[in-house]
Amino acid sequence: MQEVTIGGKTFEQYISEDQIADRVVELGAVISKEYADKNPLFIVLLKGAYVFASDLLKHFLHPCTVSFFRLSSYKGMSSTGKLTFKDVFDENIQGRDIVVVEDIVDTGNTLSGFLPALQTLEPNSVKVVSLLSKPDVLQGKVHIDFLGFEIPPAFVVGYGLDFDEQGRNYPQIYQLKQ
Ligand code: IMP
Repeated sequence: MQEVTIGGKTFEQYISEDQIADRVVELGAVISKEYADKNPLFIVLLKGAYVFASDLLKHFLHPCTVSFFRLSSYKGMSSTGKLTFKDVFDENIQGRDIVVVEDIVDTGNTLSGFLPALQTLEPNSVKVVSLLSKPDVLQGKVHIDFLGFEIPPAFVVGYGLDFDEQGRNYPQIYQLKQ
């Protein structure tokens, strides 16, 4: 589909399934090389990263564990700047090599809140993989170690990303039509 309508707004095709798939393979190869013998713990930030994580981990064929953490700082199309921790850590983080899997880094508020909390649990290392980043709106310092695509500030949906919970199911990424 070239365009989709969600909540009365029109979104147009932006990153195709093939483009995503190719980049996910590349990211998987880089992460595999670095973590082959580290038995990393992938922490998938829900809900948005579930599709990306599912595909990415099919390209990490080494020992690892996977955990899920749900937090949300978004309402509609703008960041509230507040983090809501809807879950608690249920993993032993101490001494582990952690890879945080994020769908998109926008303002960076989510990771600036989450990463320091994670550090208090004394992991051996923490790195971040994000499918998308919007560098023009990033506030403060959030380092993305493995990045899929840099995109402009326009709102995107699909491949796990939502607009008010709709649109996560589309296999490609759509951008709000101006
Ligand atoms: P940040 O805290 O501003 O970096 O935003 C991170 C979270 O906001 C992401 O994990 C998404 O859930 C959500 N988000 C940011 N930008 C978009 C977007 O363009 N579409 C859908 N969700 C977004």
